[in-house]
Amino acid sequence: MAAKRSVTAASVRGRRVLVRVDFNVPLTPTGAVADDHRIVETLPTLKHLEAAGARTILISHLGRPDGTRDPKLSLRPVVHRLSSLLGRPVPLADDIVGVHALEAAARLQNGEFLMLENVRFRPGEEANDPSFAAELARLGEVFVQDAFGTLHRAHASTVGVAKRLPTYAGFLVDREVRELSRLVEAPESPYVALLGGAKVADKLPLLTSLAGRADAILIGGALAFPFLKANGADLGATSVESGLEDEVARFLAAAQQAGTKVVLPTDLLFEVPGERDAQHADIGSPAPKGVARDIGPRTRDQFYLALADSKTVFWNGPLGLAEDLRFSAGTREVLAGLATLSGYHVAAGGDSARIANDLGVTNAFQYVSTGGGAALEFVQGVELPGLAVIPDA
Ligand code: ADP
Ligand code: 3PG
Ligand code: MG
Repeated sequence: MAAKRSVTAASVRGRRVLVRVDFNVPLTPTGAVADDHRIVETLPTLKHLEAAGARTILISHLGRPDGTRDPKLSLRPVVHRLSSLLGRPVPLADDIVGVHALEAAARLQNGEFLMLENVRFRPGEEANDPSFAAELARLGEVFVQDAFGTLHRAHASTVGVAKRLPTYAGFLVDREVRELSRLVEAPESPYVALLGGAKVADKLPLLTSLAGRADAILIGGALAFPFLKANGADLGATSVESGLEDEVARFLAAAQQAGTKVVLPTDLLFEVPGERDAQHADIGSPAPKGVARDIGPRTRDQFYLALADSKTVFWNGPLGLAEDLRFSAGTREVLAGLATLSGYHVAAGGDSARIANDLGVTNAFQYVSTGGGAALEFVQGVELPGLAVIPDA
C-alpha cells in the first residue's frame, strides 16, 4: 500500500500538534499499567516531536466507558508511565476539550506534552459527532495519527479530527503498515497462518480471507471447536459456539477449492472436574467428561511440521487457555518451535501479544503488531477508515 504522508514532513516547531495514540493498555487489578508495549512503541514519534520543538497534545481511549466518565478507566496510570518513559512530566487535562484543556494547551512551551483524559468519556467520540470532532481539532494546528490499534474505528479522534486538520502518519503507523503489508502484498510462499483464540465468530472472516492467500491454515484454540464438531468429533462438555455451521462449511469448501491446506487438532487436553491434571484424548476416541482447553502433544508436532518449511508466518490467537499453566504447553511449544525456524514471522492480537510475552516466546517473531482488531482487519485486506483519511506521501 502507498506510504502515508509522514510526520517528518510536518512543520511543527512552536505549533500545537494533536497526536492520536492507542494507549488502550491492560491494567493490573490495582489499576497500574500491566504491559506498556503500546506506549513504548509511540516513543519514536513523541521524541521526534519533542526534539522538533512541537507542543504536543496526546489523545487516547482506554477501555470502553461508553461515553461516560469512569474513574477506573482514567488515563492517570498511563500518563504516569509515559512521564517516566519520556523523562519529563506529562500533565493530564481532566476535562478533555473544556476550558482547562484549552488553557493548558495554550500554555504549552516548545517540546512539552499534555495528555487529554480518556476521549471515550465523551459520547461524541465513538459517534464521530461533528461538533465534538471540531472541539478536539480546535486544540491543535496539526494532527499526527499514531494510534495504529484504533485505525479500524471511524471515531471523532481518528477520522473526525483528520478531516479538519493537516494530517500526518506517525512512525508507529508507518511501521505497522510497512510490516503488515508484507502479509497482504505478495507474502513469500509457503505462507502459513497459525490461528487460535476464543472469539470464533469474529475470526471466521479472517479465515475466509486467508483461504487462497495462505498455503496452509493451522487452527487451534477454541477456534478449532466448530470445525472439529462439524467433523463429528466428541468434545465432551466443551461449549461450541452454535449458528456457525454454514460459515464453517463455506470456509472449508473455499479453502479446498483454493488449494489452501487446513490443519485441525488430532488430539486435545481436557479440564475435567475433580482431576488436578489435564486429561488427554485423541480426536476420534470418546472425550473425557470435561472441557477441551488445549491442543495435545501430537497436534503440537503436526503444527510444527506444517510450519517447518514456511517462509512467512502469521500468528493470531493462543492455541489453548494459555493463561493456565496446565493448558499453556500447546501455545508455548509451537511458538518455541517457530523461534527455531527462519522466515518472516508476525504476531497480532491483543491477547496473543500479551501471552507470547508471558510465555517468553516473542523471539519467535520478527514483528509483533500493537494492533488487535485493526491488525486483523488490515491482514484481511480491509480498508481501515483511520488510515484512509491520512493523505498519501
Ligand atoms: P486475540 O486477542 O489475540 O485476538 P482472542 O481474544 O481471540 O485472541 O483469544 C484469546 C483468549 O482465548 C485467551 O485468553 C485464551 O486463553 C483463550 N483460549 C484459547 N483457546 C482456548 C480454549 N481451548 N479454551 C478456553 N480459552 C481459550
Ligand atoms: C484495541 O485494543 O483493539 C484498540 O484499542 C481498539 O479498542 P476497541 O476494540 O475498544 O475499539
Ligand atoms: Mg482478545
